[in-house]
Amino acid sequence: MTDGAVPEIRRWSVEHAAPSDVTMWAPDGLPEFRPGDDLAGVLADALTADPHGLADGDIVVLTSKVLSKTEGRIVPAPTDPEERDALRRRLVDAESVRVVARVNRTLITENRLGIVQAAAGVDGSNVDARELALLPEDPDASAAALARELRERTGARVAVVVTDTMGRAWRTGQIDMAIGAAGLRVSVGYDGAVDRQGNELLVTDVAVADEIASAADLVKGKLGARPVAVVRGVRHLLVDDEGDDDEVDVPRRARDLVRGGEFDLFRLGTAEALAQGRREAVPTRRSVRRFSDDPVPADDLADAVTDALTAPAPHHSTPIRFVRVTGDARTRLLDALRADWERDLRGDGHTGDVLARRLARGDLLRTSPELILPFVDDAAGAHDYPDARRADCEETMFTVAGGAAVQSLLVALAARGLGSCWVGSTIFAAETTRRELGLPSTWRPLGAVAVGYPAEPVPPREPRPAGEAYMSVE
Ligand SMILES: Cc1cc2nc3c(=O)[nH]c(=O)nc-3n(C[C@H](O)[C@H](O)[C@H](O)COP(=O)(O)O)c2cc1C
Repeated sequence: MTDGAVPEIRRWSVEHAAPSDVTMWAPDGLPEFRPGDDLAGVLADALTADPHGLADGDIVVLTSKVLSKTEGRIVPAPTDPEERDALRRRLVDAESVRVVARVNRTLITENRLGIVQAAAGVDGSNVDARELALLPEDPDASAAALARELRERTGARVAVVVTDTMGRAWRTGQIDMAIGAAGLRVSVGYDGAVDRQGNELLVTDVAVADEIASAADLVKGKLGARPVAVVRGVRHLLVDDEGDDDEVDVPRRARDLVRGGEFDLFRLGTAEALAQGRREAVPTRRSVRRFSDDPVPADDLADAVTDALTAPAPHHSTPIRFVRVTGDARTRLLDALRADWERDLRGDGHTGDVLARRLARGDLLRTSPELILPFVDDAAGAHDYPDARRADCEETMFTVAGGAAVQSLLVALAARGLGSCWVGSTIFAAETTRRELGLPSTWRPLGAVAVGYPAEPVPPREPRPAGEAYMSVE
């Protein structure tokens, strides 16, 4: 591990075992801070006067509320509960860049700093009843400034962690976490380290700044007017903020603990993820004409058909029929359709390359992992009319119901990650289709659907401007 081939962070984490003894204390008697107070001066005096003193390697942990107060991030608020609530909602809005989840009346949002928490940190606790507190503008910068000033005033090389109280997904209760940090590693990666049993720790990356924040809350508490604690015994976590070359890659800001959206498997709340999925269900369907060889799970196909049967249909009927065509039947059917089509194309005067190219378009139905044929059965609930006009209308009505069911099938497939392409060919060869598959004469083919996993990723369709496709008439 001395030849430089091992990343610095790995060498560091292997060499530094956790200390067996950590001490912390939270001094009593700090004043109620107000905007413009000399926070560093007050803390330097209080912490050096404490019997523990302040020493190199100590970590000063302070609740962000103190910074909110000294930095003037306090907003006058009405005492009337309704008006106070309305103001709180406006402030949450202004502080948030994204709503992650809405749970009853609680809003979980992401703020400018990437911090995800309830109400964007807008808080009425431990402030005057006529005020609300906002999070500090830049807690990392505030932590850096405070660490620098404490070092200057006390001579002790200390680090600073700024905390806020947050809930956790999947666990009840809140703990304090680091929203600002300076002068220490905020996380320790054990990547590549080996434990005493010889197991390599591949993904362990301990958020030590959060551990320090929540540990310090044991002595700070929420109600005892002790907003600041000192943690002693973890001096191995301190880094030189002046930029020691060996430590340039060390995560040292609380901001480094924010997991960016694209890496976060749980970036949306459950309700929001479901809503997004519903919104994207229809545009996710695209015609896919190239499929991978991966087989389509039979259950997925059957479930998509079941979903498709929920499409609207006249007279409470279910006139749609889906036929999965496989093996010899598939070859026989596609050969017969091709023969019909070739006859039609020759009749149009096509020959040679043009004819071959046109016919090759049908190969999609031969090569897709699955082939589903939709039909509408005119004997399944359509009304009989004595006159041709209404009989025609009834047929049209059943045809459009069939179309709705096919689209539902395609969307249901897309929702399961399956691609599809709806091809019209059987509509032009109804007799041939029925004959080759041995189907009743009342079954009208509505095309054929090639199904399979897309060979390459299919991005959802961009919304199309409605243009002349949508109008209002009064
Ligand atoms: C009734 C019907 C018949 C179609 N026939 C064919 C076809 O024969 N060959 C083909 O490649 N695509 C066919 N399509 C798919 C359209 O070409 C496709 O929907 C259109 O290009 C829009 O692209 P998208 O499905 O990706 O939104 C058909 C679509 C419908 C609704």
